[in-house]
Amino acid sequence: MQLSEEEFRRLGYQAVDMAASYLAELPRRPVFQRMEQSEQQALMNMPLPVAPLSGDEILRLLAEQILPHPMGNGHPRFFGWVNSPPAMMAVITEMLAAAMNPSCAGGDHAAIYLEHCVIRWLMQLLGFPTEGSAGLLASGGSAASLTALAAARHWALGQLGIDVRKQGVCGIHAKLRIYASTQVHSCVQKAVELLGLGSESIGWIRIDEDFRLSLDELRQAIREDRQQGWHPFCIVANAGSVHTGAIDPLDALAAVALESNLWLHVDGAYGAGAVLDSNCKALFAGIERADSIASRSSQMVIGSGGMWVRFSAG
Ligand SMILES: Cc1ncc(COP(=O)(O)O)c(C=O)c1O
Repeated sequence: MQLSEEEFRRLGYQAVDMAASYLAELPRRPVFQRMEQSEQQALMNMPLPVAPLSGDEILRLLAEQILPHPMGNGHPRFFGWVNSPPAMMAVITEMLAAAMNPSCAGGDHAAIYLEHCVIRWLMQLLGFPTEGSAGLLASGGSAASLTALAAARHWALGQLGIDVRKQGVCGIHAKLRIYASTQVHSCVQKAVELLGLGSESIGWIRIDEDFRLSLDELRQAIREDRQQGWHPFCIVANAGSVHTGAIDPLDALAAVALESNLWLHVDGAYGAGAVLDSNCKALFAGIERADSIASRSSQMVIGSGGMWVRFSAG
């Protein structure tokens, strides 16, 4: 739909007013407003329009049917899950990003360089080496860990003389083994399945009384698995587990990874940002020794997920 400049401004100002009222009123509303079944049905079964809706009609539909029923995560008393609240500057800048609608697969335009900058900032915040490392913004924690674990798989198979990008997983003769605590986010199992390794390749490691991965169990599993013909290649550690916020012993895990020639991936999608709190910083010691980290930065102006990989892994 092509809008005149005047029409764009009129609708844009209206949308800003809607967003401002929505954010201002949020704390005064119930945390969650369940939709009536009839409202759910009305929304799901809207007929495919034969003609475009006008801008006014679209905004009215949003005001009447969508905005009254948020998930609840913007409310100050939302304690249900870990989903972060909206970031006001992100609301504003996302509109500008949409106005530019850049394709960041490559090219020589500002968004590319901004992404490089944001990735470096994230590395610096975590004390991750910026030299010899690379990263990218992803759509969220699941996509970030999937990408990182693909890099881990590529690295491990490369050591066995298999170029997985060329040969795919059909050529794998080794039974790859990846370790994670039972507290790890479900996206790790999904990633392992998507990467063609099969969920049976996950060695689930028990947790201690603080919900942290047990190092003794891990060492024993690596030893026994090797004896049984597995090829251990990766450890996934929590830097703030989704269930309890538990942070695995990252420094010790980095040491195990080094001595056992394993890739260490840290899932910090929920918790890694807490490294900025001086009361918590020490809990993250060793995170900078990981081979890859998935971290979320939804309070930053751009992007909702990120991941970075150190190319000099192992
Ligand atoms: C620790 C952890 N890892 C991964 C994810 C998945 O992130 P996303 O929902 O952005 O894919 C979450 C989501 O809450 C999480 O808390």
